[in-house]
Amino acid sequence: MFDRIAGRYDFLNRSLSFGRDVSWRKRIRQHLPKDKPLMLVDLATGTADQILFLLEGDAEISQAVGYDLSEEMLEVGRGKIKERNLEKQVTLLTGDAMACPAEDDTADIVTISFGIRNVLDVPTALLDMKRILHEGGKLCILECSLPPNKVIRWGYLMYFRHVLPKLGGWVSGDAYAYNYLNKTVETFPCGDAFCQLMREAGFEQVQADAMTFGVATLYTAVKPVGDA
Ligand SMILES: C[S@@+](CC[C@H](N)C(=O)[O-])C[C@H]1O[C@@H](n2cnc3c(N)ncnc32)[C@H](O)[C@@H]1O
Repeated sequence: MFDRIAGRYDFLNRSLSFGRDVSWRKRIRQHLPKDKPLMLVDLATGTADQILFLLEGDAEISQAVGYDLSEEMLEVGRGKIKERNLEKQVTLLTGDAMACPAEDDTADIVTISFGIRNVLDVPTALLDMKRILHEGGKLCILECSLPPNKVIRWGYLMYFRHVLPKLGGWVSGDAYAYNYLNKTVETFPCGDAFCQLMREAGFEQVQADAMTFGVATLYTAVKPVGDA
C-alpha cells in the first residue's frame, strides 16, 4: 500500500495535518542529548522526513540509518537525501521494525514516527527497539492518537472519518490507503494504554506528551542501565 502512495505521501502528510506534523516531528529534538555525537535509527522511516527534521536541529547526529519495508517510500527518501548531499550521514535500508537488521546496543536514539500502528506485532517491535538501543538510550515514538476531550474528539472523528479519507483518496488516487489510516488510528492503543505496552517491553521513564488537543502523541522511554 505504501509503495502505491509513495510519490504523494509527503504532500498528503503536510496538507491533511494542516502542517502540524512538522511541529510534532520537531518535538523529538527536545529529547536528543546535545553533549555527544549520536547514532540514530529511524524505523518505518518511509520517505525519511523524521530523520531530516532531526538533522536540522541542534543535536549532532553523526550517523542516521532509516529502515522500512516499502522500497518505493525508501526511493523517495533516498532522492531527498541525495538532493541535500547527506549520503555520507544518512543511509536508508530495507528492514522490518519487528526484526531490524541493526546490531544490538548500537543506537543512542531509536525513533519511529507514524509507523508503530502499522506494525503487525507491537510488543515484538518494542523488544527489538530495546535490543538496538544502548543502555540508557532513548526511544521516541510519534503516533496519531485520539483527543481525550469528548467534544474535540467528536469534531476530529468527523474530519477523520468523512473528510480525510475522501481528500486523501482523491489526491493519492488510493481510497483504500486513507480508509486504512482512520481505521488503524481508531483501533490503536493510545495514551496510558500504549505507555503500558512500553513498560511491559522493559522500558523505564515512560512518558506520553499529547500534542494539538491529543491528535498526536510523542511517547518517550529509556532502556534501563543493566538491560544489555
Ligand atoms: C505512515 S508511514 C510513516 C513514514 C515515516 N516514518 C514518516 O514519519 O512519515 C508508515 C511506514 O511504515 C512502514 N512499515 C509498515 N510496517 C513496517 C514494518 N513492519 N517494518 C518497517 N516499516 C514498516 C511503511 O512501509 C510506511 O513507510
